[in-house]
Amino acid sequence: MSREKAELPLKCAQESVLAVGELVENITENSNENIIEALEKRREEARLGGGQRRIDTQHSKGKLTARERLDVLLDPGSFEEYDMFVAQRCTDFGMADQEIPGDGVVTGWGTINGRMTYVFSQDFTVFGGSLSETHARKICKILDLAVQNGAPIIGLNDSGGARIQEGVDSLGGYAEVFWRNVQASGAVPQISVIMGPCAGGAVYSPAMTDFIYMVRDTSYMFVTGPDVVKTVTNEIVTAEELGGAGTHTQKSSVADAAFDNDIEALLEVRRLFDYLPLSAREKAPVMAMNDEPARQEMSLDTLIPANANTPYDMMEVITKLADEGEFLEIQRAHAGNIIIGFMRLDGQSVGVVANQPMVLAGCLDINSSKKAARFVRFCDAFNIPLLTLVDVPGFLPGTAQEYGGIIKHGAKLLFAYAEATVPKVTLITRKAYGGAYDVMASKHIRADVNYAWPSAEIAVMGAKGATEIIYRSELGDADKIAKRTADYEARFANPFVAAERGFIDDVIMPHNSRKRLIRAFSTLKDKKATGPVKKHNNIPL
Ligand code: HXC
Repeated sequence: MSREKAELPLKCAQESVLAVGELVENITENSNENIIEALEKRREEARLGGGQRRIDTQHSKGKLTARERLDVLLDPGSFEEYDMFVAQRCTDFGMADQEIPGDGVVTGWGTINGRMTYVFSQDFTVFGGSLSETHARKICKILDLAVQNGAPIIGLNDSGGARIQEGVDSLGGYAEVFWRNVQASGAVPQISVIMGPCAGGAVYSPAMTDFIYMVRDTSYMFVTGPDVVKTVTNEIVTAEELGGAGTHTQKSSVADAAFDNDIEALLEVRRLFDYLPLSAREKAPVMAMNDEPARQEMSLDTLIPANANTPYDMMEVITKLADEGEFLEIQRAHAGNIIIGFMRLDGQSVGVVANQPMVLAGCLDINSSKKAARFVRFCDAFNIPLLTLVDVPGFLPGTAQEYGGIIKHGAKLLFAYAEATVPKVTLITRKAYGGAYDVMASKHIRADVNYAWPSAEIAVMGAKGATEIIYRSELGDADKIAKRTADYEARFANPFVAAERGFIDDVIMPHNSRKRLIRAFSTLKDKKATGPVKKHNNIPL
Protein backbone atom coordinates (compact mmCIF):
# COMPACT_ATOMS: atom_id res chain seq x y z
CA MET A 1 0.00 0.00 0.00
CA SER A 2 1.31 3.42 -0.93
CA ARG A 3 2.10 5.81 1.91
CA GLU A 4 -0.70 8.20 0.71
CA LYS A 5 -3.27 5.42 0.83
CA ALA A 6 -2.14 4.32 4.24
CA GLU A 7 -2.58 7.86 5.69
CA LEU A 8 -6.10 8.36 4.22
CA PRO A 9 -8.08 6.76 7.10
CA LEU A 10 -6.09 8.82 9.60
CA LYS A 11 -6.85 12.02 7.68
CA CYS A 12 -10.56 11.14 7.48
CA ALA A 13 -10.60 10.39 11.18
CA GLN A 14 -8.90 13.71 11.95
CA GLU A 15 -11.38 15.59 9.77
CA SER A 16 -14.36 13.95 11.35
CA VAL A 17 -12.99 14.67 14.87
CA LEU A 18 -12.63 18.32 13.84
CA ALA A 19 -16.18 18.40 12.47
CA VAL A 20 -17.59 16.83 15.64
CA GLY A 21 -15.56 19.33 17.71
CA GLU A 22 -17.00 22.22 15.74
CA LEU A 23 -20.50 20.84 16.18
CA VAL A 24 -20.06 20.39 19.96
CA GLU A 25 -18.61 23.91 20.19
CA ASN A 26 -21.59 25.33 18.33
CA ILE A 27 -24.06 23.42 20.47
CA THR A 28 -22.25 24.48 23.69
CA GLU A 29 -22.06 28.08 22.52
CA ASN A 30 -25.76 28.05 21.72
CA SER A 31 -26.74 26.42 24.98
CA ASN A 32 -24.43 28.77 26.95
CA GLU A 33 -26.11 31.66 25.21
CA ASN A 34 -29.48 30.18 26.10
CA ILE A 35 -28.50 29.67 29.73
CA ILE A 36 -27.07 33.18 30.01
CA GLU A 37 -30.15 34.60 28.34
CA ALA A 38 -32.37 32.55 30.62
CA LEU A 39 -30.42 33.73 33.67
CA GLU A 40 -30.68 37.37 32.61
CA LYS A 41 -34.37 36.92 31.94
CA ARG A 42 -34.92 35.38 35.36
CA ARG A 43 -32.92 38.16 37.00
CA GLU A 44 -34.94 40.79 35.16
CA GLU A 45 -38.17 39.15 36.29
CA ALA A 46 -36.96 39.06 39.88
CA ARG A 47 -35.89 42.71 39.74
CA LEU A 48 -39.40 43.67 38.66
CA GLY A 49 -40.84 42.23 41.90
CA GLY A 50 -44.62 42.49 41.80
CA GLY A 51 -44.55 44.22 38.40
CA GLN A 52 -44.50 47.72 36.97
CA ARG A 53 -48.06 48.56 38.02
CA ARG A 54 -47.29 47.91 41.67
CA ILE A 55 -43.93 49.70 41.39
CA ASP A 56 -45.80 52.75 40.04
CA THR A 57 -48.22 52.56 42.98
CA GLN A 58 -45.25 52.41 45.38
CA HIS A 59 -43.74 55.50 43.72
CA SER A 60 -47.07 57.31 43.77
CA LYS A 61 -47.04 57.02 47.59
CA GLY A 62 -43.66 58.78 47.66
CA LYS A 63 -41.90 55.50 48.48
CA LEU A 64 -38.87 53.94 46.78
CA THR A 65 -38.86 50.25 45.89
CA ALA A 66 -36.90 47.71 47.93
CA ARG A 67 -34.01 47.75 45.43
CA GLU A 68 -33.95 51.51 44.99
CA ARG A 69 -33.64 51.82 48.76
CA LEU A 70 -30.61 49.53 48.79
CA ASP A 71 -29.07 51.65 46.03
CA VAL A 72 -29.29 54.69 48.32
CA LEU A 73 -28.15 52.86 51.45
CA LEU A 74 -25.12 51.03 50.08
CA ASP A 75 -21.98 52.17 48.27
CA PRO A 76 -22.53 52.14 44.49
CA GLY A 77 -22.00 48.69 42.99
CA SER A 78 -21.27 47.05 46.36
CA PHE A 79 -24.51 45.08 46.75
CA GLU A 80 -24.29 41.29 46.38
CA GLU A 81 -27.69 39.68 46.37
CA TYR A 82 -28.47 36.24 47.80
CA ASP A 83 -31.53 34.10 47.22
CA MET A 84 -32.88 36.13 44.32
CA PHE A 85 -34.67 33.08 42.95
CA VAL A 86 -36.17 31.79 46.17
CA ALA A 87 -39.93 31.36 45.69
CA GLN A 88 -42.73 30.72 48.13
CA ARG A 89 -44.06 27.18 48.51
CA CYS A 90 -47.63 27.70 49.68
CA THR A 91 -50.35 26.04 47.60
CA ASP A 92 -53.42 27.14 49.56
CA PHE A 93 -55.82 29.93 48.61
CA GLY A 94 -54.76 30.19 44.98
CA MET A 95 -51.05 30.52 45.80
CA ALA A 96 -49.95 27.43 43.81
CA ASP A 97 -49.40 29.40 40.61
CA GLN A 98 -48.00 32.52 42.28
CA GLU A 99 -44.24 32.13 42.33
CA ILE A 100 -42.68 35.54 42.38
CA PRO A 101 -38.88 35.15 42.54
CA GLY A 102 -37.41 36.57 45.74
CA ASP A 103 -40.69 36.19 47.62
CA GLY A 104 -41.02 39.80 48.73
CA VAL A 105 -37.66 40.46 50.31
CA VAL A 106 -34.29 41.42 48.80
CA THR A 107 -31.36 40.14 50.89
CA GLY A 108 -27.58 40.19 50.72
CA TRP A 109 -24.64 42.32 51.76
CA GLY A 110 -22.87 45.45 50.66
CA THR A 111 -20.71 48.23 52.04
CA ILE A 112 -21.24 51.66 53.59
CA ASN A 113 -18.20 53.86 53.14
CA GLY A 114 -16.25 50.67 52.46
CA ARG A 115 -17.39 48.80 55.61
CA MET A 116 -19.45 45.64 55.29
CA THR A 117 -23.07 45.24 56.33
CA TYR A 118 -25.75 42.64 55.77
CA VAL A 119 -29.11 43.95 54.59
CA PHE A 120 -32.67 42.93 53.92
CA SER A 121 -35.24 45.09 52.20
CA GLN A 122 -38.89 44.06 52.12
CA ASP A 123 -40.59 44.48 48.76
CA PHE A 124 -44.13 45.77 49.23
CA THR A 125 -44.89 45.12 45.55
CA VAL A 126 -44.76 41.36 46.19
CA PHE A 127 -47.72 40.18 48.29
CA GLY A 128 -47.51 43.47 50.19
CA GLY A 129 -44.05 42.53 51.49
CA SER A 130 -45.82 40.01 53.70
CA LEU A 131 -43.70 37.45 55.53
CA SER A 132 -43.96 33.84 54.39
CA GLU A 133 -41.97 30.85 55.58
CA THR A 134 -39.45 31.33 52.73
CA HIS A 135 -39.32 35.12 53.12
CA ALA A 136 -38.46 34.55 56.81
CA ARG A 137 -35.84 31.98 55.88
CA LYS A 138 -34.08 34.52 53.66
CA ILE A 139 -33.93 37.03 56.51
CA CYS A 140 -32.72 34.33 58.92
CA LYS A 141 -29.88 33.40 56.57
CA ILE A 142 -28.71 37.02 56.55
CA LEU A 143 -28.96 37.30 60.34
CA ASP A 144 -26.95 34.09 60.78
CA LEU A 145 -24.24 35.31 58.41
CA ALA A 146 -24.08 38.71 60.11
CA VAL A 147 -23.48 37.14 63.54
CA GLN A 148 -21.03 34.56 62.20
CA ASN A 149 -19.00 37.05 60.16
CA GLY A 150 -19.23 39.97 62.56
CA ALA A 151 -21.05 42.60 60.49
CA PRO A 152 -24.12 44.72 61.29
CA ILE A 153 -27.56 43.97 59.96
CA ILE A 154 -29.78 46.67 58.51
CA GLY A 155 -33.43 45.80 57.87
CA LEU A 156 -35.67 47.95 55.69
CA ASN A 157 -39.24 47.14 56.75
CA ASP A 158 -42.24 47.61 54.45
CA SER A 159 -44.67 44.77 55.02
CA GLY A 160 -48.32 43.85 55.47
CA GLY A 161 -47.27 41.39 58.21
CA ALA A 162 -47.80 37.65 58.28
CA ARG A 163 -48.55 36.13 54.83
CA ILE A 164 -52.22 35.52 55.49
CA GLN A 165 -52.46 32.53 53.10
CA GLU A 166 -49.76 30.67 55.04
CA GLY A 167 -51.05 30.75 58.59
CA VAL A 168 -48.81 29.17 61.17
CA ASP A 169 -45.86 28.71 58.77
CA SER A 170 -45.61 32.47 58.66
CA LEU A 171 -45.92 32.82 62.43
CA GLY A 172 -43.14 30.26 62.85
CA GLY A 173 -41.06 32.28 60.40
CA TYR A 174 -41.50 35.41 62.51
CA ALA A 175 -40.46 33.59 65.65
CA GLU A 176 -37.32 32.30 63.90
CA VAL A 177 -36.45 35.92 63.02
CA PHE A 178 -37.18 37.09 66.59
CA TRP A 179 -34.94 34.40 68.06
CA ARG A 180 -32.08 35.46 65.80
CA ASN A 181 -32.59 39.14 66.67
CA VAL A 182 -31.99 38.19 70.28
CA GLN A 183 -28.91 36.10 69.45
CA ALA A 184 -27.54 39.01 67.42
CA SER A 185 -28.26 41.56 70.17
CA GLY A 186 -24.98 42.75 71.62
CA ALA A 187 -23.02 40.71 69.04
CA VAL A 188 -23.55 42.94 65.97
CA PRO A 189 -25.34 46.29 65.67
CA GLN A 190 -28.88 45.92 64.33
CA ILE A 191 -30.61 48.86 62.66
CA SER A 192 -34.23 48.93 61.49
CA VAL A 193 -35.78 51.43 59.14
CA ILE A 194 -39.59 51.45 59.01
CA MET A 195 -40.57 52.56 55.52
CA GLY A 196 -44.16 51.36 55.25
CA PRO A 197 -46.57 49.31 57.33
CA CYS A 198 -45.20 47.29 60.25
CA ALA A 199 -48.08 45.91 62.26
CA GLY A 200 -49.09 43.10 64.60
CA GLY A 201 -46.42 40.84 66.01
CA ALA A 202 -44.17 41.99 63.14
CA VAL A 203 -43.22 45.03 65.21
CA TYR A 204 -41.25 42.87 67.61
CA SER A 205 -38.38 42.22 65.27
CA PRO A 206 -37.49 45.93 64.88
CA ALA A 207 -38.31 46.44 68.56
CA MET A 208 -35.46 44.13 69.50
CA THR A 209 -32.92 45.87 67.29
CA ASP A 210 -30.66 48.69 68.49
CA PHE A 211 -32.01 51.61 66.48
CA ILE A 212 -35.30 52.27 64.72
CA TYR A 213 -35.59 55.06 62.15
CA MET A 214 -38.99 55.92 60.63
CA VAL A 215 -40.19 57.83 57.58
CA ARG A 216 -42.82 60.49 58.25
CA ASP A 217 -46.30 59.99 56.75
CA THR A 218 -45.52 56.70 54.97
CA SER A 219 -44.58 54.41 57.84
CA TYR A 220 -46.38 53.19 60.93
CA MET A 221 -45.95 50.61 63.66
CA PHE A 222 -48.64 49.24 65.95
CA VAL A 223 -49.58 45.99 67.62
CA THR A 224 -53.26 46.40 66.70
CA GLY A 225 -54.55 48.76 64.00
CA PRO A 226 -57.16 51.56 64.22
CA ASP A 227 -60.09 49.23 63.39
CA VAL A 228 -59.33 46.82 66.22
CA VAL A 229 -58.70 49.73 68.56
CA LYS A 230 -62.13 51.14 67.71
CA THR A 231 -63.84 47.79 68.29
CA VAL A 232 -62.13 47.07 71.59
CA THR A 233 -61.74 50.48 73.21
CA ASN A 234 -64.12 52.70 71.22
CA GLU A 235 -61.25 55.09 70.47
CA ILE A 236 -61.22 56.63 67.01
CA VAL A 237 -57.67 57.16 65.86
CA THR A 238 -55.86 57.30 62.51
CA ALA A 239 -52.96 54.99 61.66
CA GLU A 240 -50.65 58.03 61.75
CA GLU A 241 -51.86 59.09 65.21
CA LEU A 242 -51.68 55.54 66.52
CA GLY A 243 -48.29 54.51 65.21
CA GLY A 244 -46.79 57.11 62.91
CA ALA A 245 -43.27 58.53 63.15
CA GLY A 246 -44.43 61.45 65.31
CA THR A 247 -46.05 59.17 67.86
CA HIS A 248 -43.07 56.86 68.14
CA THR A 249 -40.34 59.49 68.26
CA GLN A 250 -42.14 61.82 70.70
CA LYS A 251 -44.53 59.80 72.85
CA SER A 252 -43.65 56.13 72.94
CA SER A 253 -39.89 56.43 72.23
CA VAL A 254 -40.15 53.20 70.22
CA ALA A 255 -38.35 54.97 67.35
CA ASP A 256 -35.08 56.88 67.56
CA ALA A 257 -35.53 59.38 64.74
CA ALA A 258 -37.96 60.40 62.00
CA PHE A 259 -37.20 61.69 58.51
CA ASP A 260 -39.21 63.31 55.74
CA ASN A 261 -38.60 60.71 53.04
CA ASP A 262 -36.87 57.43 52.21
CA ILE A 263 -33.70 59.05 50.90
CA GLU A 264 -33.17 61.23 53.96
CA ALA A 265 -33.74 58.27 56.30
CA LEU A 266 -31.31 56.03 54.42
CA LEU A 267 -28.58 58.68 54.24
CA GLU A 268 -28.94 59.17 58.00
CA VAL A 269 -28.50 55.41 58.50
CA ARG A 270 -25.20 55.69 56.60
CA ARG A 271 -24.18 58.50 58.97
CA LEU A 272 -25.10 56.47 62.06
CA PHE A 273 -23.32 53.38 60.70
CA ASP A 274 -20.02 55.30 60.56
CA TYR A 275 -20.02 55.73 64.37
CA LEU A 276 -20.49 52.02 65.09
CA PRO A 277 -18.04 49.11 65.17
CA LEU A 278 -18.97 46.23 62.87
CA SER A 279 -19.38 43.90 65.84
CA ALA A 280 -18.69 43.54 69.56
CA ARG A 281 -15.37 41.93 68.59
CA GLU A 282 -14.08 45.30 67.35
CA LYS A 283 -13.19 48.57 69.01
CA ALA A 284 -15.23 51.65 68.14
CA PRO A 285 -14.11 53.17 64.83
CA VAL A 286 -11.57 55.98 64.60
CA MET A 287 -11.82 58.30 61.59
CA ALA A 288 -9.46 60.95 60.32
CA MET A 289 -10.97 64.30 61.30
CA ASN A 290 -10.01 67.81 60.44
CA ASP A 291 -9.91 69.29 63.94
CA GLU A 292 -7.18 70.16 66.42
CA PRO A 293 -7.31 67.94 69.57
CA ALA A 294 -6.00 70.83 71.71
CA ARG A 295 -8.47 73.36 70.26
CA GLN A 296 -9.51 75.82 72.96
CA GLU A 297 -13.06 77.14 73.19
CA MET A 298 -12.87 80.41 75.12
CA SER A 299 -16.64 80.91 74.86
CA LEU A 300 -17.17 77.96 77.24
CA ASP A 301 -15.61 80.01 80.06
CA THR A 302 -18.62 82.33 80.07
CA LEU A 303 -21.36 79.87 79.15
CA ILE A 304 -22.59 79.08 82.67
CA PRO A 305 -24.95 81.88 83.88
CA ALA A 306 -24.19 83.64 87.17
CA ASN A 307 -27.57 82.59 88.54
CA ALA A 308 -27.62 78.82 89.15
CA ASN A 309 -31.30 78.69 88.23
CA THR A 310 -30.83 80.21 84.78
CA PRO A 311 -30.68 77.57 82.07
CA TYR A 312 -28.14 77.35 79.24
CA ASP A 313 -28.01 75.03 76.26
CA MET A 314 -25.96 71.90 76.91
CA MET A 315 -26.00 71.27 73.16
CA GLU A 316 -23.62 74.22 72.85
CA VAL A 317 -21.13 72.44 75.13
CA ILE A 318 -21.47 69.22 73.11
CA THR A 319 -20.93 70.79 69.70
CA LYS A 320 -18.01 72.88 70.95
CA LEU A 321 -16.25 69.80 72.32
CA ALA A 322 -16.93 67.56 69.32
CA ASP A 323 -14.65 67.11 66.31
CA GLU A 324 -15.78 69.55 63.62
CA GLY A 325 -18.79 70.41 65.82
CA GLU A 326 -20.59 67.29 64.60
CA PHE A 327 -23.07 65.46 66.83
CA LEU A 328 -25.51 62.73 65.82
CA GLU A 329 -28.40 62.95 68.25
CA ILE A 330 -30.58 59.93 69.05
CA GLN A 331 -34.18 60.33 70.30
CA ARG A 332 -34.09 64.12 69.95
CA ALA A 333 -37.89 64.42 70.17
CA HIS A 334 -38.28 62.40 73.38
CA ALA A 335 -37.29 63.25 76.99
CA GLY A 336 -35.45 66.43 76.06
CA ASN A 337 -34.11 66.76 79.61
CA ILE A 338 -31.39 64.31 78.63
CA ILE A 339 -29.36 64.34 75.41
CA ILE A 340 -27.88 61.17 73.94
CA GLY A 341 -25.92 60.62 70.75
CA PHE A 342 -22.55 60.18 69.11
CA MET A 343 -19.62 62.51 68.54
CA ARG A 344 -15.98 62.03 67.67
CA LEU A 345 -13.10 63.15 69.86
CA ASP A 346 -9.82 63.17 67.93
CA GLY A 347 -11.52 60.84 65.45
CA GLN A 348 -12.68 58.32 68.06
CA SER A 349 -16.40 57.47 68.25
CA VAL A 350 -17.76 58.46 71.65
CA GLY A 351 -21.26 58.04 73.11
CA VAL A 352 -22.50 61.17 74.86
CA VAL A 353 -25.03 61.37 77.70
CA ALA A 354 -25.76 64.91 78.90
CA ASN A 355 -28.34 66.57 81.13
CA GLN A 356 -30.11 69.45 79.37
CA PRO A 357 -30.83 72.36 81.77
CA MET A 358 -33.19 73.88 79.15
CA VAL A 359 -35.81 71.13 79.75
CA LEU A 360 -37.20 70.39 83.25
CA ALA A 361 -34.00 72.06 84.56
CA GLY A 362 -32.17 68.87 83.51
CA CYS A 363 -33.91 66.70 86.15
CA LEU A 364 -33.81 62.93 85.75
CA ASP A 365 -37.28 61.43 85.34
CA ILE A 366 -38.74 58.16 84.13
CA ASN A 367 -38.40 58.85 80.42
CA SER A 368 -34.92 60.35 80.53
CA SER A 369 -33.64 57.51 82.72
CA LYS A 370 -34.94 54.85 80.32
CA LYS A 371 -33.68 56.75 77.29
CA ALA A 372 -30.15 57.14 78.65
CA ALA A 373 -29.95 53.66 80.20
CA ARG A 374 -30.59 51.89 76.91
CA PHE A 375 -28.03 54.07 75.18
CA VAL A 376 -25.37 53.43 77.85
CA ARG A 377 -25.96 49.69 77.47
CA PHE A 378 -25.65 49.92 73.68
CA CYS A 379 -22.34 51.79 73.94
CA ASP A 380 -21.03 49.33 76.52
CA ALA A 381 -22.00 46.32 74.39
CA PHE A 382 -20.15 47.75 71.38
CA ASN A 383 -17.02 49.16 73.04
CA ILE A 384 -17.95 52.79 72.45
CA PRO A 385 -16.45 54.98 75.21
CA LEU A 386 -18.88 57.13 77.19
CA LEU A 387 -18.66 60.83 77.88
CA THR A 388 -21.12 62.09 80.52
CA LEU A 389 -21.81 65.81 80.88
CA VAL A 390 -23.54 66.56 84.17
CA ASP A 391 -25.83 69.40 85.20
CA VAL A 392 -28.55 67.70 87.21
CA PRO A 393 -30.55 69.13 90.12
CA GLY A 394 -31.89 65.68 91.08
CA PHE A 395 -34.81 63.40 90.29
CA LEU A 396 -38.11 64.99 89.27
CA PRO A 397 -40.52 65.00 92.24
CA GLY A 398 -44.25 64.21 92.06
CA THR A 399 -46.91 61.56 92.24
CA ALA A 400 -46.81 60.98 88.48
CA GLN A 401 -43.17 59.99 88.78
CA GLU A 402 -43.56 57.87 91.91
CA TYR A 403 -46.69 56.09 90.65
CA GLY A 404 -44.99 55.57 87.30
CA GLY A 405 -42.08 53.82 88.98
CA ILE A 406 -39.25 56.34 88.93
CA ILE A 407 -37.52 54.16 91.52
CA LYS A 408 -37.32 51.24 89.11
CA HIS A 409 -36.70 53.34 85.99
CA GLY A 410 -34.10 55.57 87.61
CA ALA A 411 -32.38 52.40 88.78
CA LYS A 412 -32.04 51.36 85.13
CA LEU A 413 -29.67 54.23 84.47
CA LEU A 414 -27.71 53.65 87.67
CA PHE A 415 -27.46 49.96 86.82
CA ALA A 416 -26.41 50.62 83.22
CA TYR A 417 -23.61 52.97 84.22
CA ALA A 418 -22.42 50.73 87.05
CA GLU A 419 -22.21 47.62 84.84
CA ALA A 420 -20.57 49.43 81.90
CA THR A 421 -16.90 48.54 81.53
CA VAL A 422 -16.10 50.79 78.55
CA PRO A 423 -13.96 53.88 79.21
CA LYS A 424 -16.14 56.37 81.12
CA VAL A 425 -15.18 60.03 81.42
CA THR A 426 -17.41 62.49 83.29
CA LEU A 427 -17.45 66.27 83.28
CA ILE A 428 -19.63 68.18 85.77
CA THR A 429 -20.44 71.60 84.35
CA ARG A 430 -22.73 72.87 87.10
CA LYS A 431 -25.15 71.00 89.40
CA ALA A 432 -24.59 67.44 90.56
CA TYR A 433 -27.07 67.08 93.37
CA GLY A 434 -28.20 64.17 95.47
CA GLY A 435 -28.72 60.66 94.10
CA ALA A 436 -28.50 62.01 90.57
CA TYR A 437 -24.84 62.90 91.27
CA ASP A 438 -24.17 59.25 92.03
CA VAL A 439 -26.12 58.03 89.00
CA MET A 440 -24.53 60.28 86.37
CA ALA A 441 -21.30 58.29 86.00
CA SER A 442 -19.79 59.31 89.33
CA LYS A 443 -16.43 57.99 90.46
CA HIS A 444 -18.21 55.74 92.95
CA ILE A 445 -19.90 53.66 90.25
CA ARG A 446 -16.56 53.34 88.47
CA ALA A 447 -16.23 56.18 86.03
CA ASP A 448 -12.56 56.28 85.12
CA VAL A 449 -11.84 60.01 84.93
CA ASN A 450 -14.05 62.66 86.57
CA TYR A 451 -13.58 66.35 85.90
CA ALA A 452 -15.52 69.41 87.02
CA TRP A 453 -15.62 72.99 85.88
CA PRO A 454 -15.05 75.67 88.57
CA SER A 455 -18.80 76.39 88.30
CA ALA A 456 -19.69 72.88 89.53
CA GLU A 457 -21.85 72.45 92.63
CA ILE A 458 -21.60 68.96 94.07
CA ALA A 459 -23.95 68.64 97.03
CA VAL A 460 -26.87 66.76 98.50
CA MET A 461 -29.18 69.51 97.26
CA GLY A 462 -29.31 73.24 96.41
CA ALA A 463 -28.31 75.66 99.18
CA LYS A 464 -31.80 77.15 99.62
CA GLY A 465 -33.53 73.78 100.02
CA ALA A 466 -30.80 72.53 102.34
CA THR A 467 -31.02 75.61 104.58
CA GLU A 468 -34.78 75.39 104.80
CA ILE A 469 -34.50 71.84 106.09
CA ILE A 470 -31.57 72.23 108.45
CA TYR A 471 -32.74 75.60 109.86
CA ARG A 472 -36.49 75.11 109.77
CA SER A 473 -36.92 76.83 113.15
CA GLU A 474 -35.36 80.02 111.71
CA LEU A 475 -37.62 80.21 108.64
CA GLY A 476 -39.44 83.29 110.00
CA ASP A 477 -36.21 85.32 109.98
CA ALA A 478 -35.36 86.14 106.35
CA ASP A 479 -31.96 87.69 107.14
CA LYS A 480 -30.83 84.72 109.17
CA ILE A 481 -31.95 82.29 106.43
CA ALA A 482 -30.15 84.36 103.77
CA LYS A 483 -26.94 84.16 105.78
CA ARG A 484 -27.36 80.41 106.39
CA THR A 485 -27.95 79.91 102.65
CA ALA A 486 -24.83 81.90 101.78
CA ASP A 487 -22.80 79.84 104.27
CA TYR A 488 -24.09 76.57 102.78
CA GLU A 489 -23.34 77.81 99.28
CA ALA A 490 -19.80 78.82 100.26
CA ARG A 491 -19.19 75.38 101.73
CA PHE A 492 -20.83 73.11 99.14
CA ALA A 493 -21.72 75.03 95.95
CA ASN A 494 -18.33 74.27 94.42
CA PRO A 495 -16.33 71.31 93.20
CA PHE A 496 -13.59 71.51 95.81
CA VAL A 497 -15.02 69.35 98.60
CA ALA A 498 -15.43 66.50 96.09
CA ALA A 499 -11.97 67.24 94.68
CA GLU A 500 -10.45 67.12 98.18
CA ARG A 501 -11.78 63.60 98.52
CA GLY A 502 -10.56 62.49 95.09
CA PHE A 503 -14.11 62.03 93.79
CA ILE A 504 -13.18 64.60 91.16
CA ASP A 505 -9.78 64.05 89.54
CA ASP A 506 -9.30 67.70 88.62
CA VAL A 507 -11.09 71.01 88.30
CA ILE A 508 -10.47 72.08 84.73
CA MET A 509 -10.95 75.30 82.81
CA PRO A 510 -13.92 75.09 80.44
CA HIS A 511 -11.87 76.36 77.47
CA ASN A 512 -9.44 73.44 77.88
CA SER A 513 -12.13 70.77 78.15
CA ARG A 514 -11.76 69.31 74.67
CA LYS A 515 -8.05 68.75 75.12
CA ARG A 516 -8.45 67.31 78.63
CA LEU A 517 -11.22 64.91 77.57
CA ILE A 518 -9.28 63.69 74.54
CA ARG A 519 -6.23 63.08 76.72
CA ALA A 520 -8.37 61.28 79.32
CA PHE A 521 -9.85 58.95 76.70
CA SER A 522 -6.38 58.31 75.24
CA THR A 523 -5.22 56.91 78.61
CA LEU A 524 -8.18 54.52 78.62
CA LYS A 525 -7.91 53.05 75.15
CA ASP A 526 -6.57 49.71 76.42
CA LYS A 527 -8.75 49.63 79.54
CA LYS A 528 -9.58 46.15 80.78
CA ALA A 529 -12.26 45.56 83.40
CA THR A 530 -14.10 42.42 84.34
CA GLY A 531 -16.79 41.62 86.88
CA PRO A 532 -17.67 38.47 88.80
CA VAL A 533 -18.65 35.32 86.90
CA LYS A 534 -22.41 35.04 86.44
CA LYS A 535 -24.96 33.89 83.87
CA HIS A 536 -26.32 37.40 83.39
CA ASN A 537 -27.30 40.29 85.60
CA ASN A 538 -30.86 41.24 86.46
CA ILE A 539 -31.29 44.88 85.40
CA PRO A 540 -34.56 46.31 86.81
CA LEU A 541 -36.66 46.06 83.64
C1 HXC B 1 -50.74 38.46 52.02
C2 HXC B 1 -50.98 40.69 51.61
C3 HXC B 1 -50.88 40.97 52.99
C4 HXC B 1 -50.69 39.88 53.87
C5 HXC B 1 -51.13 42.83 51.97
N1 HXC B 1 -51.14 41.87 51.02
N2 HXC B 1 -50.98 42.29 53.17
N3 HXC B 1 -50.91 39.44 51.14
N4 HXC B 1 -50.62 38.64 53.34
N5 HXC B 1 -50.56 40.05 55.18
C6 HXC B 1 -51.26 42.07 49.58
C7 HXC B 1 -52.63 42.54 49.16
O1 HXC B 1 -53.45 41.44 48.96
C8 HXC B 1 -52.31 43.26 47.87
O2 HXC B 1 -52.11 42.31 46.86
C9 HXC B 1 -50.96 43.87 48.14
O3 HXC B 1 -50.40 43.12 49.22
C10 HXC B 1 -51.03 45.30 48.56
O4 HXC B 1 -52.00 45.45 49.56
P1 HXC B 1 -53.09 46.60 49.52
O5 HXC B 1 -54.09 46.27 50.56
O6 HXC B 1 -53.55 46.82 48.12
O7 HXC B 1 -52.20 47.85 49.94
P2 HXC B 1 -52.58 49.07 50.86
O8 HXC B 1 -53.91 49.63 50.47
O9 HXC B 1 -51.40 49.99 50.81
O10 HXC B 1 -52.73 48.47 52.34
C11 HXC B 1 -51.63 47.93 52.97
C12 HXC B 1 -52.06 47.18 54.24
C13 HXC B 1 -53.18 46.19 53.91
C14 HXC B 1 -52.59 48.23 55.25
C15 HXC B 1 -50.84 46.52 54.84
O11 HXC B 1 -52.77 45.39 52.80
C16 HXC B 1 -53.53 45.28 55.03
O12 HXC B 1 -54.24 45.65 55.96
N6 HXC B 1 -53.01 44.03 54.95
C17 HXC B 1 -53.29 43.04 55.96
C18 HXC B 1 -52.51 43.32 57.17
C19 HXC B 1 -52.66 42.24 58.18
O13 HXC B 1 -53.75 42.08 58.79
N7 HXC B 1 -51.60 41.43 58.34
C20 HXC B 1 -51.57 40.39 59.29
C21 HXC B 1 -51.24 41.07 60.59
S1 HXC B 1 -51.08 39.91 61.85
P3 HXC B 1 -52.36 42.64 45.31
O14 HXC B 1 -52.20 41.35 44.63
O15 HXC B 1 -53.73 43.23 45.22
O16 HXC B 1 -51.29 43.64 44.96
C22 HXC B 1 -49.48 39.59 61.80
C23 HXC B 1 -49.12 38.64 62.81
C24 HXC B 1 -47.67 38.55 62.93
O17 HXC B 1 -48.74 40.07 61.04
C25 HXC B 1 -47.38 37.72 64.14
C26 HXC B 1 -45.96 37.57 64.37
C27 HXC B 1 -45.70 36.87 65.64
